[in-house]
Amino acid sequence: MTSIAGKTVLLTGASGGIGSFIARALAKEKATIIAVSRSQAKLDEICTEIEALGGRGIGIEFDISQVAELPKLIQQINQVSGQIDILINNAAVEKYRPFQHYALQDIQSTLTTNLIAGMELTRLILPSMLARNSGHIVNIASGSGKKGMPYNSIYSASKAGLIMWTDALRQELADTNIGVSVVCPGYTATGMFSALGVPAPSLARVAPPQEVAIAILNAIKQNQAEVILDGLVSKLLFSNFQLFPKFGDLVFKWIGVTKLNKNCAEKQMRS
Ligand SMILES: NC(=O)c1ccc[n+]([C@@H]2O[C@H](COP(=O)([O-])OP(=O)(O)OC[C@H]3O[C@@H](n4cnc5c(N)ncnc54)[C@H](OP(=O)(O)O)[C@@H]3O)[C@@H](O)[C@H]2O)c1
Repeated sequence: MTSIAGKTVLLTGASGGIGSFIARALAKEKATIIAVSRSQAKLDEICTEIEALGGRGIGIEFDISQVAELPKLIQQINQVSGQIDILINNAAVEKYRPFQHYALQDIQSTLTTNLIAGMELTRLILPSMLARNSGHIVNIASGSGKKGMPYNSIYSASKAGLIMWTDALRQELADTNIGVSVVCPGYTATGMFSALGVPAPSLARVAPPQEVAIAILNAIKQNQAEVILDGLVSKLLFSNFQLFPKFGDLVFKWIGVTKLNKNCAEKQMRS
């Protein structure tokens, strides 16, 4: 069981949604949280909450999609707080479109924010974790990385990439004391979900972000390899979808995922 108390955590996407709940949960465990997002004002609010809950909060405004600049972020962190014990790659963006309507810029920005930035942060931080033979890396993926999401295909590809990269990295680090986890939430009640402006499919559960945050902390404490939120039913469905992709397509049509996502894409293209 790994303790989080006193640890320094770099958390991307800390300004809202699931990230803000991860920050609060870490604060209750007396961690120092380096909270990163593109909005200093929102980070300042979260850091005030972190301090009130017993943690230490340092907000750093940074656009992680500027991957070539990430060494500067690490330098900045080293100056204010020293070594990073836990890295939580949480920030992500998504955009719904029929695939042929994506611009190259959409493809690049989604893959860069959701996948490459987490890889690059890890590449920059891992040597110091290896030198201390201690640390934990958690990547926040999605059920969308387990089964392709029609009309959200770039996001799906980024999350599938995150899952497979985590899987490979965990094996590379198996003989070290560095933990590696991937967490795959399902529909979660955050801005990312409500911005879609459509309800969840009838049989899908919308989880409170607090529940996802607790699952992420448990993944760190127990060094869990992969966490799929919503339990055994989701796990069984995803493993069946892997074996029988067309069965998965039918389930998505039947429970309304395909139609809802198409509606989202049409809505986003009109706005
Ligand atoms: N909500 C869901 O239903 C759901 C389901 C499955 C998986 N997830 C995953 O859970 C994670 C959190 O999602 P969420 O629902 O909390 O999303 P959200 O409410 O949209 O929050 C996303 C966070 O990422 C930050 N961010 C986005 N682009 C950034 C960039 N270029 N640089 C720095 N920060 C950036 C945003 O802050 P700023 O705008 O201030 O930069 C915000 O803090 C994501 O990885 C998402 O894919 C969510």
